[in-house]
Amino acid sequence: MKPVKVGICGLGTVGGGTFNVLKRNADEISRRAGRRIVVEQIGARRDNPDCDTKGTQISRDIFDVASNPEIDIVVELIGGYDVARELVMTAIENGKHVVTANKALIAVHGNEIFEAAQKKNVMVAFESAVAGGIPVIKAIREGLAANQINWLAGIINGTGNFILTEMRDKGRDFADVLAEAQALGYAEADPTFDVEGIDAAHKLTILASIAFGIPLQFDKAYTEGISQITPEDVQYAEELGYRIKHLGVSRRTEQGVELRVHPTLIPAQALLANVNGVMNAVLVDGDAVGQTLYYGAGAGAEPTASAVVADIVDVVRTLTADRDNRVPHLAFQPGQLSDLPVLPIEQTETAYYLRMQAAEQPGVLAMVTKILGDQGINIEAIIQKETSEEQVPVIILTQRVQEQKMNDAIAQIEALDAINGAVTRIRVEQL
Ligand code: HSE
Repeated sequence: MKPVKVGICGLGTVGGGTFNVLKRNADEISRRAGRRIVVEQIGARRDNPDCDTKGTQISRDIFDVASNPEIDIVVELIGGYDVARELVMTAIENGKHVVTANKALIAVHGNEIFEAAQKKNVMVAFESAVAGGIPVIKAIREGLAANQINWLAGIINGTGNFILTEMRDKGRDFADVLAEAQALGYAEADPTFDVEGIDAAHKLTILASIAFGIPLQFDKAYTEGISQITPEDVQYAEELGYRIKHLGVSRRTEQGVELRVHPTLIPAQALLANVNGVMNAVLVDGDAVGQTLYYGAGAGAEPTASAVVADIVDVVRTLTADRDNRVPHLAFQPGQLSDLPVLPIEQTETAYYLRMQAAEQPGVLAMVTKILGDQGINIEAIIQKETSEEQVPVIILTQRVQEQKMNDAIAQIEALDAINGAVTRIRVEQL
């Protein structure tokens, strides 16, 4: 059979990894795909010193790839929103299948892209957009197709997890670890996407859509990053038997779907608490299977290339398949997406870790606990540290409560004369 011709747009960390894996494992890959897969053209502004591209056409204009009549599959690895969207839409318009690692693109423009792809009868595959090399899209979309998914929770940003791990284990400085993650090619072009949770929210948006059969709604995701986490919170969490991880959590409730990304205390013995460094993991709870956990490298050249190439193989296999029997982009048939709303964060429910600076005087704890009690918030644990200062740190763990009630309680606690400054709040999940 004729080889399938691929055009790679972007030859950075992931593009370079994809080129090298396709070349190195060409024989093994064609035994799996049933056809040879050839990189016909690369569109990239710069060469990658790690890639030997001799013999491959290179264009400095990525749009040459999208309009090259020889090319069957356009692999979009340039990242970002606007140019990537234009490139992918052009490729689709030209009848090409698309493989992309671009979570921002899928989370924000995915609904429109899939609709265009449907019309042109082409595939858009995006396994590498979530959790790097872990085949979690395939697992949820296909392997868990029998289940009603109840919830999923994951560590889905390698850079953030790397920073938190190094801070906790080695007491390293935030900025220092971030610079190392950038040098290793883990971080986004704009690293605030990693540390402020935007990258994780992109990925969670995609996971929630395929888990619950809802359209992509990135604008409804609640997003909080790791930049406010202090070494004291890491330390107090440890004393309470917890670790702080940056989690994406999506849960189906009767009222709607929770879609939230934030630092979270989780029990130290939980499997997710022991996912360290750049590794990612996603825990999925399905009604039939129970909990399943997917773990692996969440960033980096070849781990991400592993998922990109798997998508290319999938597309190659479907080239000859009946178009009505392809796996739907968002797991559910396009006409079968549900209108279950995404809940505002105030309507979601978790337990909480609270830290506040209290005046060292009688009755302060009683006032704080009364406010919590009046909101129906049960206290799980309290730590008050001995100090020679006039202010004493008080740490409280609560049971689960609706976020709005906690907001009201925190506002009242912060208004007390005996409480100095803002109350730090970190959500808690027992998983
Ligand atoms: N910046 C991302 C991360 C890369 O650190 O997880 C993989 O999506």
